[in-house]
Amino acid sequence: MNKPNLKTDRTLTDINGRRLRYLRLSLTERCNLRCGYCYGSVDTPCNEPAGLTNPQIMRLVRAFAGLGFDKVRFTGGEVLLHGGIAELIEQTSATGGIAVVGITTNGLLLDKQLPRLIGAGLNRLNVSLDTLDSKRFQHITGVNGFERVFDAIQNAVKSRAFPRVKINTVIMRGVNDDEIGHLADWGLSNPIDLRFIEFMPTHRSGWGHARYVSEAEMKKTIGVPLEPVHDRAANRGPAITYRRGDSPGRISFISAVSRSFCGQCNRLRVTSQGQLVGCLFGDQRVDLRELVERNAPAKEIERVIVSAVRSPGFRREGLSTSVTSLKPRMRGLGG
Ligand code: 5AD
Repeated sequence: MNKPNLKTDRTLTDINGRRLRYLRLSLTERCNLRCGYCYGSVDTPCNEPAGLTNPQIMRLVRAFAGLGFDKVRFTGGEVLLHGGIAELIEQTSATGGIAVVGITTNGLLLDKQLPRLIGAGLNRLNVSLDTLDSKRFQHITGVNGFERVFDAIQNAVKSRAFPRVKINTVIMRGVNDDEIGHLADWGLSNPIDLRFIEFMPTHRSGWGHARYVSEAEMKKTIGVPLEPVHDRAANRGPAITYRRGDSPGRISFISAVSRSFCGQCNRLRVTSQGQLVGCLFGDQRVDLRELVERNAPAKEIERVIVSAVRSPGFRREGLSTSVTSLKPRMRGLGG
């Protein structure tokens, strides 16, 4: 008998020909920071209904793996507030086809959990950090936690468990735009990838376009010549990555406002309530919760995902339109 060809049909392509292989799964809308630009950006401000159980989440992960997804990132809210994250990482890493397992965290609870997460198979780590100043950190986030986050980052770098720890830094006018130079120095002189993210006005937060600083302005402020890194792995996502000479560090730009990267979008999102989302800037949702609650077979879950992705409007075509006027529900969708 012939061995089954596991590669057959294990790819998912949307109606614009974009291959999807990266799942971002939000585990909770809860957060232990109160950053104004993100925290207020949610549909149900309090009393979040219970999220999916770990076995239900794993049913989803296996269905996506069955469709050829090879990367899963757990997000929030704050992902480390989800009890059982280590088990999820462990089971996801052990799922056939999944090569990359990451989290995006604010770092507050990271130091304590890091060894367990690495032991479970975590191999990508993004930490959100908008300032290198402890007082300002408290001003932005409402919590006196800079040292905790900074120590966690240093220990994560030392662990060598990640190709490069990524730092997500949203630049906002009048908030931290005076730190661009200092942040760039820090990013280039340490073995990390500091990602300057253009601020996007968010749904319901009241934080609008006045905060926006463009990539072009950031580069001008940095002032020193940067060399693009032509490494496929470094440039697979929306970030464009640079080095300076033989600097140990990298800096990147994620510029959803001044540049459209919809054409290369390879991701789908699932909310903590089990709703499939085709685009950070879209409104359409498809319920997957009902399927995992009644223990539907993986093939049925796969069919629902495929039909969502193939339905017009579920994923933005958006190859030319700007996203400036669209406001994501940031805390609900995990970026
Ligand atoms: N604009 C741009 N990026 C944002 N993030 C959160 N809110 C915004 C916003 N309004 C980023 C944070 C976090 C990631 C998940 O999303 O940097 O690291």
